[in-house]
Order: sequence, then C-alpha cells, then structure tokens
Amino acid sequence: MASTTQIEACSVTKTFGKFAALRDISLTIAEGEFLSLLGPSGSGKTTFLTLLGGYEAVTSGQLLFEGQDMTGWSAKERAFGMVFQGYALFPHLTVAENIAFPLKVQKRSKARIDARVAEMIELVGLAGHAHKKPSALSGGQQQRVALARALAYEPKVLLLDEPFSALDKNLRGQMQEELRRLHRDLGTTFVFVTHDQEEALALSTRIAIFNHGHLQQIGTPDEVYERPANRFTAEFLGDINILSLQGGNITGSAITAPPHAQGNGHLAIRPEHMRLAQDYDTNRLPTTVRDRVYLGAKSRLLLATGAGEELILYFDNGPGEAPPAPGATLEVTWDPRDSFAV
Ligand SMILES: Nc1ncnc2c1ncn2[C@@H]1O[C@H](COP(=O)(O)OP(=O)(O)O)[C@@H](O)[C@H]1O
Ligand SMILES: [Mg+2]
Repeated sequence: MASTTQIEACSVTKTFGKFAALRDISLTIAEGEFLSLLGPSGSGKTTFLTLLGGYEAVTSGQLLFEGQDMTGWSAKERAFGMVFQGYALFPHLTVAENIAFPLKVQKRSKARIDARVAEMIELVGLAGHAHKKPSALSGGQQQRVALARALAYEPKVLLLDEPFSALDKNLRGQMQEELRRLHRDLGTTFVFVTHDQEEALALSTRIAIFNHGHLQQIGTPDEVYERPANRFTAEFLGDINILSLQGGNITGSAITAPPHAQGNGHLAIRPEHMRLAQDYDTNRLPTTVRDRVYLGAKSRLLLATGAGEELILYFDNGPGEAPPAPGATLEVTWDPRDSFAV
C-alpha cells in the first residue's frame, strides 16, 4: 500500500439546520488505499462521501487533496468517480453509451472513447453486452456498468456508496471479489461506504467507523477488530463477550483483571479467544450453559456467569465430545493478552 497522503479531512463538520450529521471529522486517506466508511444507518457515511465528492459543501473544516485546499472545489473540479447506492444508469442508453457518457462530457475523440469503452467492458467482464439496455441486464451486471462508467475517465479517487446493497448474498460475494481485483489492478484510491462489517473487514486496507456523526476509530481491519477503541466499535464489529469488573476482579469471581483493565470498568474478549478451561489453566471462570445453537461445523453456546452476565463460546463439532447441553456447568478461560478494556 502506498503511504502518500492524498486526501485529508481537517475538523470537518456538516449540519443540516440544527442537526449535525458529522462532527469534527479528521482523517487522512492514502493514495491507492481502500478505505471503508463503516457504521449503522444514519451515522453520516453518505454525508461524508458527498462532502468528499463535492456534492455538498462542508459547514466548517477543510478538505485537502494532494496538499491543496479543495474545500471550495465543485464536484466537477474534483472529478472523482462516484458509484451510487442505486445503479443510476441512463435507462434509454446502451451499456456502451452509458460508459461513454462521462468521456463525451470530457469531449474526447470518438476513436479514444470507443477504445476506452471497449477496454472498460472487458475490465468488468461484460463482453457481449455492449449493445444491451440496462433493463436487459441483471442487478450484478448493472452494477458492473456503473463501476465501468465511474472508472472510464480514470479518476484518481473512486467513491462508492453501498454499491452492492441491492444484490443477493452470492452475487454480493462475487462483486466484492471483483472490486478487490479492480482495486489491485488499477491502484486507484477507493472510498467505500458500507454498513456490513464483514464486507468492510474483507475488502479494506483501513476502516473508518462512524456512529452518530462521530468518527469512532480508524485503522486496519485487524486493528479495529482486535483493538477496538471503545465499546461501540467492539460491539459493532462482531460478537463480543463483555464482563464487568468490581474492584479489579471480574464480577462474581476471584479472577483478577489484567493490568490494562483495572478498576470498575469492563473487560472484553472475542468469543473465538475463549475456550473450555483445562485443569492447568489459572484463570477459570465458572459458567452455566443457557442455550446451544447447532451451526454445522460449530455450535454456539450461550453461557451465564455466576453474576448472570452472558457469554458466547464457539464449540467445534469435530470428532470427540458432544457440545454441553443447557444446564451443564463448565469453566471457560482465555489468554489475558487477548482481552481489552471497554
Ligand atoms: N439533506 C439532508 N437534510 C437533512 N438531514 C440529512 C440530509 N442528508 C442526511 N441527513 C441526515 O444526516 C444523518 C446522516 O445521514 P447519512 O449520511 O445519509 O447516513 P448513512 O449514510 O450513514 O446512513 C441522518 O440522520 C440523515 O437523516
Ligand atoms: Mg448512506
């Protein structure tokens, strides 16, 4: 990954009337990065993308592009590619005409446009579909046309707003693979909005997590997953076990919290870092099985601690013992280095 800063947001705030959709957002985007903006619905992701693209003006703060102040530049001056949530194709134009549209606006020669359109159709795997209207294409094919159109004039930055949200799960996985390949082959900076944690973890070089218009954390997928900055990020990025602390001990047990989580806070451990305790383990937390869900390769156990706090434990359904049934008591353990304070 290149590490030259291409875009910088400095204390960017966006208000609609009295409502602040984004508050004091500062972050940098490196050239060639695949940055995902991740957060629940209404957290400000689309708003941030429209500010980057120049479709909306910031209320306060500054946006820099390659060191230059682009805050006042129009969308046209920024000339970033944009793929919207719907496909937003021109229904009366063919695939080839849709892709050619931004190039015609740029007044390129017909020969150059034709060559570029053919190249883009090849790139997104739509050979043989050039003369079809969007209505004759599947959802996945329409999204490929939208991608090809946005990439046709070689923008330095491609902005994508939940481009796959309308596609079914299989097609979505396929399009994600294609997007990864496109990003790898082109080296263009991608800023990708999603509310899907797995999608963000699988695709991104870094993830910026938003909630209620605030940037919660920005980091590589493993940083934000394994070292969440706060409870929101920890809970938003997958299953998490949270144990409350009292006077430095896990509530209702004799287990001392690790040095990084003293006091009366909370300790968090991902379920995949928890396992059934053996006799030689020192920190063993007694629990009772409340529920068991069979998931094929694994079973998901819902456990309750002595203090009544719920934990998730994954049990491998391999050869050997069957997973414990509801009512069974068992002890769980984890490596304290895999726990963090939230
Ligand atoms: N043009 C607008 N006028 C008023 N409120 C808006 C406008 N655009 C977005 N908002 C509000 O800003 C918040 C963030 O919206 P948005 O950026 O679309 O969220 P997300 O994309 O994360 O779902 C929402 O509460 C939304 O209702
Ligand atoms: Mg949105």
